[in-house]
Amino acid sequence: MAVLEIQTDDAPVLRQKAVSVQEINAELSPFIEDMFETMYEAQGIGLAAPQVGVSKRIIVIDIEKHHPEYPRIALINPVITLTVGEELGEEGCLSLPGVRGMVRRAALVKVEGLLPNGSKIEFDASNLMARVLQHEIDHLNGIFFTDLLLPEDQELLELQPEASEKTVTENENSLHGNK
Ligand code: NI
Repeated sequence: MAVLEIQTDDAPVLRQKAVSVQEINAELSPFIEDMFETMYEAQGIGLAAPQVGVSKRIIVIDIEKHHPEYPRIALINPVITLTVGEELGEEGCLSLPGVRGMVRRAALVKVEGLLPNGSKIEFDASNLMARVLQHEIDHLNGIFFTDLLLPEDQELLELQPEASEKTVTENENSLHGNK
């Protein structure tokens, strides 16, 4: 396994629409394990393949520590098929170090996609899991959370790296974590 380099800020790959995975082959599982390792190394809770420079529709999420009802998951070609309600919550992003903001997201989502073994999965998610899913799937479409901030919401919070790190340890609702 390997820790991959996380792309940040204006890296072009972060603004591309990622392509669907056409074939679940032997190379996929090691790459997904590298994505998990990279995410853990950066103290994040979600990561999308474009964030490590691979423009494919793959995401990994692990919020199990705080929400054991959602075991860690890797999703291939994930699609949100239903959204319900709205919720305002704080987010950060490993690709936008030191930046946080308040983002409106659907409170509940229904998601379908493929697991690394090729089997189909469909499930409902709420609260933090719904938020992380929406954030990571946005990355597959070249969208940053900062694109979604509404003027009436809190202004973008530009934090010093030290302050940011402190925030993430104190707030389990922080996405990804920022170092
Ligand atoms: Ni992100």
